[in-house]
Amino acid sequence: MTSPSGQTPDRKALPSSADGFARPVAKAFLRAPVTPAGQADCAILASIHAAAFAPGENWSSDIFSLQLALPNVLALTDSADGLILVRTAADEAEVLTLAVRPTERRRRLGSVLLEAAILHVATAGVRVVFLEVSTKNTAALALYRGFGFTNAGIRRRYYSDGTDAYVMRLDLPVAPPATATIS
Ligand SMILES: CC(C)(COP(=O)(O)OP(=O)(O)OC[C@H]1O[C@@H](n2cnc3c(N)ncnc32)[C@H](O)[C@@H]1OP(=O)(O)O)[C@@H](O)C(=O)NCCC(=O)NCCS
Repeated sequence: MTSPSGQTPDRKALPSSADGFARPVAKAFLRAPVTPAGQADCAILASIHAAAFAPGENWSSDIFSLQLALPNVLALTDSADGLILVRTAADEAEVLTLAVRPTERRRRLGSVLLEAAILHVATAGVRVVFLEVSTKNTAALALYRGFGFTNAGIRRRYYSDGTDAYVMRLDLPVAPPATATIS
């Protein structure tokens, strides 16, 4: 790949971490896997959430504990920088929250978390995923639209600062029957 100037980029010129890797590459490959979180993870989940959201909007460790005690709520995390919570009800699911530490953004962690959650609920029989997002949250809107979420409505003054929220939905394809054959 060439740079806008037509020059081949010098890899050594990329900003690198103490371990010697170019930062974005290292983060993509060295990140811990995304796995389900439990009660023992509530402190780290609260820490990630506090870093990602403004004071007053973040969830405490107690809130995570209450959410994770519910049988239909799934939390996924890489145990360091990102989290997602999803609630399932019959064949519908709702993304309750999604957060990535500011220092770790634009390295696909939000995408990895969202994809893992969607795959999990799809496997459990969910056919449509809903979420609410601020009409001003350009980052999250771009992420969700990239996954195929579409606007399904608007909730006026949904947030405490008076901001509106879009309701977004993603319809999941119905998997073919296990016995289906390709002719
Ligand atoms: C929204 C959020 C989770 C995205 O996490 P992330 O790890 O940075 O997202 P990704 O790196 O997977 O980004 C995937 C795509 O989303 C879009 N996107 C993400 N951040 C963006 C930004 N700041 N501006 C524009 N598009 C953005 C881009 O299309 C991006 O792909 P690209 O980097 O190849 O252009 C993160 O910004 C965050 O935690 N924000 C604060 C909390 C929040 O708003 N949560 C959602 C509440 S509904």
